[in-house]
Amino acid sequence: MTDRATELRAQGRDIISLSVGEPDFDTPFHVVAAMKAALDSGQTRYTPVGGTAAMKRAAALHFERDLGIAIDVAQVTVSAGGKQAIFHALLATLDPGDEVVIPAPWWVSYPEIVRFAGGTVVPLPTRPETGFHFSAADLAAVVTPRTRWLLLNSPGNPTGAVFTAEDICAVAAVMEAHPELLVMSDDIYAPLTYTGAPHATLAALRPDLADRVLTVSGVSKSHAMTGLRIGVATGPEWLIRAMERLQSHSSGNPCSISQAGAVAAFEGPQDFLADWRERFRQRRDLVVSRINAIPGLSTPVPQGAFYCFVDASPLIGGMLADDGALALHLLEHGVAVVAASAFGGGHCGLAGFRISFAASEDQLNAAIDRIEKAVSAL
Ligand SMILES: Cc1ncc(COP(=O)(O)O)c(C=O)c1O
Repeated sequence: MTDRATELRAQGRDIISLSVGEPDFDTPFHVVAAMKAALDSGQTRYTPVGGTAAMKRAAALHFERDLGIAIDVAQVTVSAGGKQAIFHALLATLDPGDEVVIPAPWWVSYPEIVRFAGGTVVPLPTRPETGFHFSAADLAAVVTPRTRWLLLNSPGNPTGAVFTAEDICAVAAVMEAHPELLVMSDDIYAPLTYTGAPHATLAALRPDLADRVLTVSGVSKSHAMTGLRIGVATGPEWLIRAMERLQSHSSGNPCSISQAGAVAAFEGPQDFLADWRERFRQRRDLVVSRINAIPGLSTPVPQGAFYCFVDASPLIGGMLADDGALALHLLEHGVAVVAASAFGGGHCGLAGFRISFAASEDQLNAAIDRIEKAVSAL
């Protein structure tokens, strides 16, 4: 949808894009300065495949300070974005027919990566009424002896759902009953939560299970560095080494200049984050109140990340066959969003769309005016 919106804009159409998954803030100045210095000092050569020693130390600092996971640098690897870490972990461990449980709605790339790696996707449907959370019983009902991985994502894309310590306990209980089960915890949005509660993540809350947990994080979302492609992961050493072996034969080391930027991101000042969080929170509140005032649309209040997952089920049928048609209808009215079906919304009986509120308040207000008009035209 982002590409289609760009195309339409190039044709002179006025399109507001709320489809893209990146902060609209500038990359912090100290990060940019560190990358310029790295370039000037000739850091343009290969680095160790899984990242420089400085990069791994900075990632270890991030895991301990921001996520509460104390680890040795040997348990860290660095890749070209969080996506590549997930890709390599699944590629390294899945055999044909292995099952991977993914709570739905899910991030679009999870099922694609699982299928590419030969695995079978097992959806775990969740609903807005429960804040898109699931219980130990819900999870136990879909785990089988063939389940290799459970993929967790908190704060979640596309729902903004944030796990509590209780949710993590529920997962741990199921892990105890299934010793073969590995869990991936994708915490890439961790610094962007609006609950005020400390971030809850499995490897920190249950260090006794940490040798079965891969935690993925990065700088893309928290430091507005999406284009620089740095992701970090920590887990058992056997898995980290397997991921690095794959990386050594695919892309090789992550970009040397971006690594210098990511070191500055993790080691430098973090105080700008409080300001970003507050601005995102205000935008979230604006979008939630305005969307919920439109007949036929509803969204729960996201607790983290910068997305609202809007249920538009009452509008589907008649003129609109599905939520893909709804997204196109909204595009005709000048707003680009992503249909809920792209996130496995259908597994949860949901049809609608995701709005990214990483846009200015003026843009958000203008976009929602257009959405309101588009809905009343149905
Ligand atoms: C849930 C989730 N995980 C991982 C990623 C990947 O981030 P990166 O850009 O660092 O590869 C994204 C990006 O959209 C995401 O939403």
